[in-house]
Amino acid sequence: MTNVTVIGAQWGDEGKGKIIDWLSNRADMVARFQGGNNAGHTIVVGDKTYKLSLLPSGVVQAKRSIIGNGVVVDPWSLLDEIARVGAAGLTITPDILVLAENAVLVLPLHRELDAMREEAASQKIGTTKRGIGPAYEDKVGRRALRAIDLADLSALPAKIERLLAHHNVLRRGFGHAEADAKALLQSLADIAPKIVPFLGSSWRELHAARLAGKRVLFEGAQAVLLDIDHGTYPFVTSSNTVAGQAAAGTGVGPREIGTVLGIVKSYTTRVGEGPFPTELKDATGDRLGERGHEFGTVTGRKRRCGWFDAALVRQTVITGGVDGIALTKLDVLDGFDEIKVCTGYALDGKILDHLPASANAQAGLTPIYETLKGWSES
Ligand code: IMO
Ligand code: MG
Repeated sequence: MTNVTVIGAQWGDEGKGKIIDWLSNRADMVARFQGGNNAGHTIVVGDKTYKLSLLPSGVVQAKRSIIGNGVVVDPWSLLDEIARVGAAGLTITPDILVLAENAVLVLPLHRELDAMREEAASQKIGTTKRGIGPAYEDKVGRRALRAIDLADLSALPAKIERLLAHHNVLRRGFGHAEADAKALLQSLADIAPKIVPFLGSSWRELHAARLAGKRVLFEGAQAVLLDIDHGTYPFVTSSNTVAGQAAAGTGVGPREIGTVLGIVKSYTTRVGEGPFPTELKDATGDRLGERGHEFGTVTGRKRRCGWFDAALVRQTVITGGVDGIALTKLDVLDGFDEIKVCTGYALDGKILDHLPASANAQAGLTPIYETLKGWSES
């Protein structure tokens, strides 16, 4: 078994990009299986820094890279990213990049709906406003446009009509102008010739790779605590982020995903709203954020910081299907006299060794800490 699946085992930003880049040296192919341009993976190679959102990290090592069917793809954003990394010296051709024909497209109306909802909500989720949630809703609602639709523009008007019949009701309700079918068709027609050359079959690519004995790295985005089923619902992203999704999101069987590596940061961060039992809203939290450069790659937001939560990671190792952990950013803890590790929670006089399912209960947890002696050298 030589394939490896990499997932985040906390709330994202654990350093997945760095580890994936390092592992991709030994892989023949890299495949993304969920999320979209809400992900932000920073990869530093020598004196160059690449900020990737939709492109699989394999492109940095010029490995054949697949954007799997489980990913939602904003085609304009993809073209921008290809241009951006092109300017940094990486040429992305159809020899390097394959976009699954059956991947769902993120459209401007998804970004707009994401923003309208966040603005209207009294309890915000703190999304990246990239339209990720609304695009997955349309996928499940069976009215989404898919990448392959760009290859047959004559069939698009009917699909757009079906999609807008749904969206324009919502837009009217939000007091927003209706989406214009003609304008959407025209803007899709404009980019189609640039996207279509990348279209391919994720499942056939991966099947051929398997027959040829090639090694595949499955690249997760976000993290298990943001999983739509297993995360801190409703403060989650709209896809499954657990290792099981690597199979469904690319078109391979569950036995093909190989060893599952969970990326874990030696403290905890979270961007956006939602429960965070070990959050530090004090000088220690600020120190972690400053030493760890905890600002979002995608939105530039300051990340919330706190101590390592072993109870959470114990849980995500189980639900995520993690075989081994890569622990990152341990050097951020250099110089602390004491380091705290959360081993469980107190709730209403009871001790819990896991995160309860109710959002209210999650918000009311008091962490139980074990205090460890720090170290002064690196
Ligand atoms: P990477 O791959 C950290 C968070 C958002 C928000 C919630 C829902 O870089 O680790 P969405 O736009 O997905 O509907 O927002 O999920 N979020 C992330 N947090 N790292 C990420 O990706 C994230 N992608 C989404 O901040 O709380
Ligand atoms: Mg990130």
